[in-house]
Amino acid sequence: MEEDSFGSRKGKNMARIGEDASGGGRVRWGILGTGRIATKFAAELKRVERLGGSSVAQAVAARELERSERFAGEHQIPHACGSYTELLERPDIDVVYIGLVNSQHYPVCKEALLAGKAVLCEKPFTMHPSQSDELIGLARQRGLFLMEGLWSRCFPVVRAVRDIIHGKEYGAVTLAEFDFGFIGDLSPQGRLMNPALGGGALNDVGIYPLTLSQFFLGPIVEFQAMATLSPSGVDLRVLVNARHESGALSRLAASIDTITQKEGNLFAERAAIHIPSPLWKPPLAICRIHEGQRGSTPARPPTERRIEGAYGGNGFEFEINHVAECVAAGLTESPLMPLEETLQTALLMEKIRKECGIAAPGL
Ligand SMILES: NC(=O)c1ccc[n+]([C@@H]2O[C@H](COP(=O)([O-])OP(=O)(O)OC[C@H]3O[C@@H](n4cnc5c(N)ncnc54)[C@H](OP(=O)(O)O)[C@@H]3O)[C@@H](O)[C@H]2O)c1
Repeated sequence: MEEDSFGSRKGKNMARIGEDASGGGRVRWGILGTGRIATKFAAELKRVERLGGSSVAQAVAARELERSERFAGEHQIPHACGSYTELLERPDIDVVYIGLVNSQHYPVCKEALLAGKAVLCEKPFTMHPSQSDELIGLARQRGLFLMEGLWSRCFPVVRAVRDIIHGKEYGAVTLAEFDFGFIGDLSPQGRLMNPALGGGALNDVGIYPLTLSQFFLGPIVEFQAMATLSPSGVDLRVLVNARHESGALSRLAASIDTITQKEGNLFAERAAIHIPSPLWKPPLAICRIHEGQRGSTPARPPTERRIEGAYGGNGFEFEINHVAECVAAGLTESPLMPLEETLQTALLMEKIRKECGIAAPGL
Protein backbone atom coordinates (compact mmCIF):
# COMPACT_ATOMS: atom_id res chain seq x y z
CA MET A 1 0.00 0.00 0.00
CA GLU A 2 1.32 3.47 -0.93
CA GLU A 3 1.59 6.50 1.39
CA ASP A 4 0.64 10.01 0.29
CA SER A 5 1.98 13.33 1.61
CA PHE A 6 -0.41 13.20 4.61
CA GLY A 7 0.95 9.75 5.48
CA SER A 8 -2.50 8.34 4.63
CA ARG A 9 -2.54 4.96 3.04
CA LYS A 10 -3.83 4.55 -0.48
CA GLY A 11 -6.17 1.67 -1.04
CA LYS A 12 -8.42 0.03 -3.54
CA ASN A 13 -10.91 2.87 -3.99
CA MET A 14 -8.98 4.61 -6.74
CA ALA A 15 -9.25 1.80 -9.25
CA ARG A 16 -13.01 1.48 -8.83
CA ILE A 17 -14.17 5.11 -9.23
CA GLY A 18 -15.76 5.71 -12.61
CA GLU A 19 -15.34 2.07 -13.64
CA ASP A 20 -18.64 2.37 -15.48
CA ALA A 21 -20.36 5.44 -16.90
CA SER A 22 -23.11 5.72 -14.24
CA GLY A 23 -21.40 8.53 -12.31
CA GLY A 24 -19.72 10.24 -15.26
CA GLY A 25 -16.36 9.79 -13.50
CA ARG A 26 -17.75 11.26 -10.28
CA VAL A 27 -17.86 9.61 -6.86
CA ARG A 28 -21.20 7.78 -6.54
CA TRP A 29 -22.85 7.99 -3.13
CA GLY A 30 -25.35 5.68 -1.47
CA ILE A 31 -27.30 7.11 1.48
CA LEU A 32 -28.29 4.71 4.26
CA GLY A 33 -31.26 6.02 6.25
CA THR A 34 -33.97 8.56 5.59
CA GLY A 35 -34.08 10.37 8.94
CA ARG A 36 -33.38 13.99 9.81
CA ILE A 37 -29.66 14.11 9.12
CA ALA A 38 -29.88 11.94 6.00
CA THR A 39 -32.40 14.49 4.67
CA LYS A 40 -29.91 17.34 5.21
CA PHE A 41 -27.08 15.31 3.75
CA ALA A 42 -29.09 14.41 0.64
CA ALA A 43 -30.19 18.00 0.07
CA GLU A 44 -26.57 19.17 0.17
CA LEU A 45 -25.28 16.28 -1.92
CA LYS A 46 -27.75 17.23 -4.64
CA ARG A 47 -26.71 20.88 -4.35
CA VAL A 48 -23.03 19.90 -4.72
CA GLU A 49 -24.00 17.71 -7.68
CA ARG A 50 -25.92 20.55 -9.35
CA LEU A 51 -22.97 22.90 -8.82
CA GLY A 52 -20.80 20.46 -10.79
CA GLY A 53 -18.90 18.95 -7.84
CA SER A 54 -17.22 15.58 -8.07
CA SER A 55 -20.02 13.73 -6.23
CA VAL A 56 -23.30 12.26 -7.42
CA ALA A 57 -26.26 10.90 -5.39
CA GLN A 58 -26.82 7.41 -6.76
CA ALA A 59 -29.12 5.54 -4.35
CA VAL A 60 -30.87 5.69 -0.99
CA ALA A 61 -31.96 2.87 1.32
CA ALA A 62 -34.41 2.63 4.21
CA ARG A 63 -35.71 -0.32 6.18
CA GLU A 64 -38.92 0.08 4.19
CA LEU A 65 -39.06 0.59 0.43
CA GLU A 66 -41.94 3.05 0.64
CA ARG A 67 -39.83 5.42 2.74
CA SER A 68 -36.79 5.23 0.47
CA GLU A 69 -38.95 5.72 -2.63
CA ARG A 70 -40.50 8.83 -1.13
CA PHE A 71 -37.05 10.15 -0.13
CA ALA A 72 -35.61 9.36 -3.59
CA GLY A 73 -38.52 11.23 -5.20
CA GLU A 74 -38.08 14.26 -2.94
CA HIS A 75 -34.34 14.50 -3.63
CA GLN A 76 -34.24 13.23 -7.25
CA ILE A 77 -32.05 10.25 -6.38
CA PRO A 78 -32.16 7.65 -9.20
CA HIS A 79 -32.41 4.45 -7.13
CA ALA A 80 -34.43 3.53 -4.00
CA CYS A 81 -33.67 0.35 -2.03
CA GLY A 82 -35.93 -1.42 0.50
CA SER A 83 -33.05 -2.55 2.73
CA TYR A 84 -29.52 -1.43 3.56
CA THR A 85 -28.19 -4.75 2.21
CA GLU A 86 -29.83 -4.15 -1.17
CA LEU A 87 -27.97 -0.85 -1.54
CA LEU A 88 -24.69 -2.34 -0.36
CA GLU A 89 -24.95 -5.05 -3.02
CA ARG A 90 -25.20 -2.51 -5.83
CA PRO A 91 -22.00 -2.37 -7.90
CA ASP A 92 -22.62 1.29 -8.87
CA ILE A 93 -21.93 2.73 -5.39
CA ASP A 94 -18.44 3.97 -4.47
CA VAL A 95 -19.06 5.37 -0.99
CA VAL A 96 -21.90 5.07 1.51
CA TYR A 97 -23.06 7.65 4.03
CA ILE A 98 -24.39 6.04 7.22
CA GLY A 99 -26.95 8.39 8.77
CA LEU A 100 -28.58 5.85 11.10
CA VAL A 101 -29.23 5.78 14.85
CA ASN A 102 -25.98 5.34 16.79
CA SER A 103 -26.50 1.68 17.68
CA GLN A 104 -26.75 0.78 13.97
CA HIS A 105 -23.42 2.35 12.97
CA TYR A 106 -21.32 -0.69 13.85
CA PRO A 107 -23.35 -3.48 12.20
CA VAL A 108 -24.15 -1.50 9.06
CA CYS A 109 -20.61 -0.11 8.70
CA LYS A 110 -19.26 -3.64 9.02
CA GLU A 111 -21.63 -4.89 6.35
CA ALA A 112 -20.64 -1.99 4.07
CA LEU A 113 -16.92 -2.69 4.44
CA LEU A 114 -17.48 -6.39 3.82
CA ALA A 115 -19.37 -5.39 0.67
CA GLY A 116 -16.27 -3.44 -0.45
CA LYS A 117 -17.67 0.07 -0.02
CA ALA A 118 -15.87 3.19 1.16
CA VAL A 119 -17.71 4.55 4.22
CA LEU A 120 -18.52 7.90 5.83
CA CYS A 121 -20.25 7.02 9.11
CA GLU A 122 -22.02 9.57 11.30
CA LYS A 123 -20.70 10.35 14.77
CA PRO A 124 -20.30 8.76 17.26
CA PHE A 125 -18.57 6.09 15.18
CA THR A 126 -19.64 3.13 17.36
CA MET A 127 -20.89 2.45 20.87
CA HIS A 128 -17.76 0.56 22.07
CA PRO A 129 -14.02 1.01 21.39
CA SER A 130 -13.72 -2.69 20.50
CA GLN A 131 -16.25 -2.13 17.68
CA SER A 132 -14.33 0.90 16.41
CA ASP A 133 -11.09 -1.09 16.53
CA GLU A 134 -12.65 -3.94 14.58
CA LEU A 135 -14.04 -1.67 11.84
CA ILE A 136 -10.76 0.22 11.48
CA GLY A 137 -8.90 -3.10 11.19
CA LEU A 138 -11.37 -4.33 8.58
CA ALA A 139 -11.07 -1.16 6.47
CA ARG A 140 -7.26 -1.29 6.63
CA GLN A 141 -7.18 -4.97 5.77
CA ARG A 142 -9.41 -4.36 2.75
CA GLY A 143 -7.78 -1.08 1.71
CA LEU A 144 -11.07 0.82 1.94
CA PHE A 145 -11.66 4.47 2.88
CA LEU A 146 -13.33 4.91 6.26
CA MET A 147 -14.14 8.12 8.15
CA GLU A 148 -16.18 9.12 11.19
CA GLY A 149 -18.52 11.92 10.12
CA LEU A 150 -17.31 14.70 12.40
CA TRP A 151 -18.13 17.28 9.77
CA SER A 152 -17.07 20.28 11.91
CA ARG A 153 -13.45 19.55 11.08
CA CYS A 154 -14.12 20.13 7.37
CA PHE A 155 -15.36 23.73 7.76
CA PRO A 156 -12.87 26.33 6.44
CA VAL A 157 -13.20 28.45 9.61
CA VAL A 158 -12.38 25.48 11.84
CA ARG A 159 -9.37 24.60 9.70
CA ALA A 160 -8.19 28.25 9.70
CA VAL A 161 -8.47 28.48 13.50
CA ARG A 162 -6.51 25.27 13.83
CA ASP A 163 -3.76 26.66 11.58
CA ILE A 164 -3.57 29.83 13.70
CA ILE A 165 -3.29 27.77 16.89
CA HIS A 166 -0.82 25.24 15.53
CA GLY A 167 1.26 28.06 14.00
CA LYS A 168 1.24 29.76 17.46
CA GLU A 169 0.34 33.07 15.77
CA TYR A 170 -0.81 34.44 19.12
CA GLY A 171 1.34 32.19 21.29
CA ALA A 172 0.24 28.99 22.96
CA VAL A 173 -3.40 28.39 23.91
CA THR A 174 -3.53 27.67 27.61
CA LEU A 175 -7.27 27.65 28.38
CA ALA A 176 -10.36 26.86 26.29
CA GLU A 177 -14.08 26.21 26.64
CA PHE A 178 -16.61 24.65 24.30
CA ASP A 179 -20.30 23.96 24.83
CA PHE A 180 -23.17 22.40 22.91
CA GLY A 181 -26.49 22.25 24.70
CA PHE A 182 -29.95 22.16 23.11
CA ILE A 183 -33.43 20.85 23.95
CA GLY A 184 -33.93 17.65 21.99
CA ASP A 185 -36.78 15.18 21.56
CA LEU A 186 -37.05 13.92 25.14
CA SER A 187 -39.90 11.46 24.51
CA PRO A 188 -39.06 8.00 25.89
CA GLN A 189 -39.35 6.38 22.45
CA GLY A 190 -37.04 8.92 20.76
CA ARG A 191 -33.41 8.02 19.96
CA LEU A 192 -31.98 10.56 22.43
CA MET A 193 -33.53 9.05 25.58
CA ASN A 194 -33.07 5.40 24.65
CA PRO A 195 -29.79 3.79 25.81
CA ALA A 196 -30.34 0.89 23.39
CA LEU A 197 -30.19 3.33 20.45
CA GLY A 198 -27.11 5.11 21.86
CA GLY A 199 -28.92 8.12 23.32
CA GLY A 200 -27.62 10.82 25.66
CA ALA A 201 -25.85 14.18 25.52
CA LEU A 202 -22.30 12.87 25.25
CA ASN A 203 -23.06 10.74 22.17
CA ASP A 204 -25.28 13.29 20.51
CA VAL A 205 -23.53 16.62 21.04
CA GLY A 206 -20.81 16.19 23.69
CA ILE A 207 -18.65 14.59 21.02
CA TYR A 208 -18.32 18.00 19.30
CA PRO A 209 -16.60 19.80 22.22
CA LEU A 210 -14.59 16.62 22.85
CA THR A 211 -13.25 16.30 19.31
CA LEU A 212 -13.00 20.00 18.46
CA SER A 213 -10.94 20.65 21.59
CA GLN A 214 -8.56 17.88 20.53
CA PHE A 215 -8.46 19.12 16.92
CA PHE A 216 -7.22 22.47 18.22
CA LEU A 217 -5.26 21.50 21.33
CA GLY A 218 -4.15 17.91 20.81
CA PRO A 219 -5.01 14.74 22.74
CA ILE A 220 -6.73 14.83 26.13
CA VAL A 221 -4.44 13.06 28.59
CA GLU A 222 -6.43 13.52 31.80
CA PHE A 223 -10.03 14.43 32.64
CA GLN A 224 -12.69 14.75 35.33
CA ALA A 225 -16.32 14.29 34.30
CA MET A 226 -19.77 14.44 35.82
CA ALA A 227 -23.25 13.96 34.37
CA THR A 228 -26.91 14.20 35.29
CA LEU A 229 -28.71 11.03 34.20
CA SER A 230 -32.28 10.49 33.01
CA PRO A 231 -34.41 7.72 34.57
CA SER A 232 -33.53 5.63 31.47
CA GLY A 233 -29.81 5.99 32.30
CA VAL A 234 -28.67 8.32 29.51
CA ASP A 235 -26.88 11.59 30.31
CA LEU A 236 -29.06 14.69 30.06
CA ARG A 237 -26.06 16.92 30.81
CA VAL A 238 -22.36 16.22 30.94
CA LEU A 239 -19.36 18.32 31.98
CA VAL A 240 -15.75 17.42 31.31
CA ASN A 241 -12.67 19.24 32.57
CA ALA A 242 -9.75 18.13 30.45
CA ARG A 243 -5.96 18.47 30.36
CA HIS A 244 -4.42 18.26 26.89
CA GLU A 245 -0.98 16.91 26.07
CA SER A 246 0.25 20.49 25.48
CA GLY A 247 -0.68 21.42 29.05
CA ALA A 248 -3.74 23.43 27.93
CA LEU A 249 -6.88 22.97 30.03
CA SER A 250 -10.36 22.88 28.51
CA ARG A 251 -13.89 22.92 29.89
CA LEU A 252 -16.41 20.98 27.81
CA ALA A 253 -20.16 21.00 28.34
CA ALA A 254 -23.07 19.33 26.57
CA SER A 255 -26.78 18.88 27.16
CA ILE A 256 -29.91 17.58 25.49
CA ASP A 257 -32.30 19.36 27.89
CA THR A 258 -30.71 22.81 28.24
CA ILE A 259 -29.91 25.46 25.65
CA THR A 260 -26.36 26.78 25.98
CA GLN A 261 -24.37 29.32 23.97
CA LYS A 262 -23.05 26.64 21.56
CA GLU A 263 -19.74 28.43 21.11
CA GLY A 264 -16.03 28.05 21.64
CA ASN A 265 -13.40 30.26 23.24
CA LEU A 266 -9.67 29.65 23.10
CA PHE A 267 -7.35 31.80 25.18
CA ALA A 268 -3.81 32.26 23.89
CA GLU A 269 -0.94 34.42 25.15
CA ARG A 270 -1.72 37.38 22.87
CA ALA A 271 -5.34 36.85 21.79
CA ALA A 272 -8.67 35.27 22.62
CA ILE A 273 -10.22 33.35 19.73
CA HIS A 274 -14.00 33.31 19.81
CA ILE A 275 -16.06 30.90 17.70
CA PRO A 276 -19.67 32.11 17.94
CA SER A 277 -22.65 29.80 17.62
CA PRO A 278 -23.02 27.56 15.71
CA LEU A 279 -19.75 26.11 17.03
CA TRP A 280 -20.19 22.83 15.14
CA LYS A 281 -20.63 24.50 11.72
CA PRO A 282 -19.15 27.98 12.09
CA PRO A 283 -19.17 30.58 9.33
CA LEU A 284 -17.10 32.94 11.49
CA ALA A 285 -14.39 33.16 14.16
CA ILE A 286 -13.10 36.34 15.78
CA CYS A 287 -9.60 36.83 17.17
CA ARG A 288 -9.52 39.53 19.85
CA ILE A 289 -5.87 40.49 19.94
CA HIS A 290 -4.80 42.01 23.26
CA GLU A 291 -1.05 41.54 22.69
CA GLY A 292 -0.58 40.23 26.19
CA GLN A 293 -1.47 43.50 27.97
CA ARG A 294 -1.32 42.92 31.70
CA GLY A 295 -3.79 43.80 34.43
CA SER A 296 -7.46 43.08 34.81
CA THR A 297 -8.44 46.34 33.06
CA PRO A 298 -6.13 46.71 30.02
CA ALA A 299 -5.31 50.25 28.83
CA ARG A 300 -6.32 49.57 25.21
CA PRO A 301 -9.25 47.53 23.89
CA PRO A 302 -8.25 44.49 21.83
CA THR A 303 -8.09 44.75 18.04
CA GLU A 304 -10.26 42.34 16.07
CA ARG A 305 -9.45 39.98 13.23
CA ARG A 306 -12.39 38.21 11.62
CA ILE A 307 -11.99 34.79 10.03
CA GLU A 308 -14.88 34.51 7.56
CA GLY A 309 -16.12 31.33 5.93
CA ALA A 310 -19.74 31.88 4.91
CA TYR A 311 -21.32 29.03 2.95
CA GLY A 312 -24.33 28.70 0.70
CA GLY A 313 -26.03 25.48 1.79
CA ASN A 314 -26.35 23.67 5.10
CA GLY A 315 -22.59 23.08 5.45
CA PHE A 316 -22.36 19.41 4.43
CA GLU A 317 -20.62 20.47 1.20
CA PHE A 318 -17.24 20.59 2.95
CA GLU A 319 -17.43 17.04 4.26
CA ILE A 320 -18.92 15.73 1.00
CA ASN A 321 -16.18 17.34 -1.09
CA HIS A 322 -13.46 16.26 1.34
CA VAL A 323 -14.57 12.61 1.26
CA ALA A 324 -14.95 12.68 -2.54
CA GLU A 325 -11.41 14.05 -2.86
CA CYS A 326 -10.02 11.39 -0.50
CA VAL A 327 -11.88 8.56 -2.25
CA ALA A 328 -10.98 9.78 -5.75
CA ALA A 329 -7.33 10.05 -4.67
CA GLY A 330 -7.44 6.50 -3.34
CA LEU A 331 -6.82 7.47 0.31
CA THR A 332 -8.01 5.05 2.96
CA GLU A 333 -8.41 7.64 5.67
CA SER A 334 -9.03 11.33 6.09
CA PRO A 335 -6.13 13.58 7.11
CA LEU A 336 -8.74 15.74 8.93
CA MET A 337 -10.31 12.89 10.89
CA PRO A 338 -7.66 10.15 11.20
CA LEU A 339 -8.84 6.72 12.28
CA GLU A 340 -6.46 6.66 15.24
CA GLU A 341 -8.28 9.73 16.59
CA THR A 342 -11.61 8.02 16.05
CA LEU A 343 -10.35 5.10 18.13
CA GLN A 344 -8.90 7.35 20.84
CA THR A 345 -12.19 9.28 21.02
CA ALA A 346 -14.12 6.02 21.42
CA LEU A 347 -11.79 5.03 24.29
CA LEU A 348 -12.17 8.43 25.94
CA MET A 349 -15.97 8.36 25.62
CA GLU A 350 -16.04 4.89 27.14
CA LYS A 351 -14.02 6.17 30.13
CA ILE A 352 -16.35 9.18 30.53
CA ARG A 353 -19.41 6.89 30.41
CA LYS A 354 -17.88 4.65 33.07
CA GLU A 355 -16.92 7.57 35.32
CA CYS A 356 -20.43 9.04 35.07
CA GLY A 357 -22.41 5.76 35.07
CA ILE A 358 -23.95 6.48 31.66
CA ALA A 359 -25.85 3.55 30.13
CA ALA A 360 -24.74 2.25 26.71
CA PRO A 361 -26.08 -0.44 24.37
CA GLY A 362 -24.75 -3.96 25.04
CA LEU A 363 -22.10 -5.43 22.75
N1 LIG B 1 -23.60 15.67 11.52
C1 LIG B 1 -24.57 16.22 12.21
O1 LIG B 1 -24.68 17.44 12.33
C2 LIG B 1 -25.61 15.37 12.85
C3 LIG B 1 -26.77 15.96 13.30
C4 LIG B 1 -27.76 15.16 13.82
C5 LIG B 1 -27.53 13.80 13.94
N2 LIG B 1 -26.36 13.25 13.54
C6 LIG B 1 -26.14 11.80 13.64
O2 LIG B 1 -26.95 11.19 12.63
C7 LIG B 1 -27.47 9.97 13.09
C8 LIG B 1 -28.97 9.95 12.89
O3 LIG B 1 -29.56 11.03 13.56
P1 LIG B 1 -30.98 11.62 13.11
O4 LIG B 1 -31.19 12.82 13.92
O5 LIG B 1 -31.05 11.72 11.65
O6 LIG B 1 -31.95 10.46 13.62
P2 LIG B 1 -33.42 10.07 13.09
O7 LIG B 1 -34.05 11.23 12.41
O8 LIG B 1 -34.12 9.44 14.23
O9 LIG B 1 -33.11 8.98 11.98
C9 LIG B 1 -32.45 7.80 12.32
C10 LIG B 1 -32.48 6.81 11.18
O10 LIG B 1 -31.96 5.58 11.71
C11 LIG B 1 -32.58 4.50 11.05
N3 LIG B 1 -32.76 3.35 11.95
C12 LIG B 1 -32.19 2.16 11.78
N4 LIG B 1 -32.50 1.34 12.77
C13 LIG B 1 -33.31 2.02 13.60
C14 LIG B 1 -33.97 1.70 14.81
N5 LIG B 1 -33.84 0.49 15.36
N6 LIG B 1 -34.74 2.64 15.38
C15 LIG B 1 -34.85 3.87 14.84
N7 LIG B 1 -34.24 4.23 13.69
C16 LIG B 1 -33.48 3.31 13.08
C17 LIG B 1 -33.86 5.02 10.44
O11 LIG B 1 -33.64 4.76 9.09
P3 LIG B 1 -34.77 4.29 8.06
O12 LIG B 1 -34.89 5.48 7.21
O13 LIG B 1 -34.19 3.11 7.43
O14 LIG B 1 -36.01 4.02 8.83
C18 LIG B 1 -33.88 6.50 10.67
O15 LIG B 1 -34.10 7.18 9.48
C19 LIG B 1 -27.00 9.83 14.53
O16 LIG B 1 -25.87 8.99 14.55
C20 LIG B 1 -26.61 11.22 14.96
O17 LIG B 1 -25.56 11.23 15.91
C21 LIG B 1 -25.41 14.02 12.98
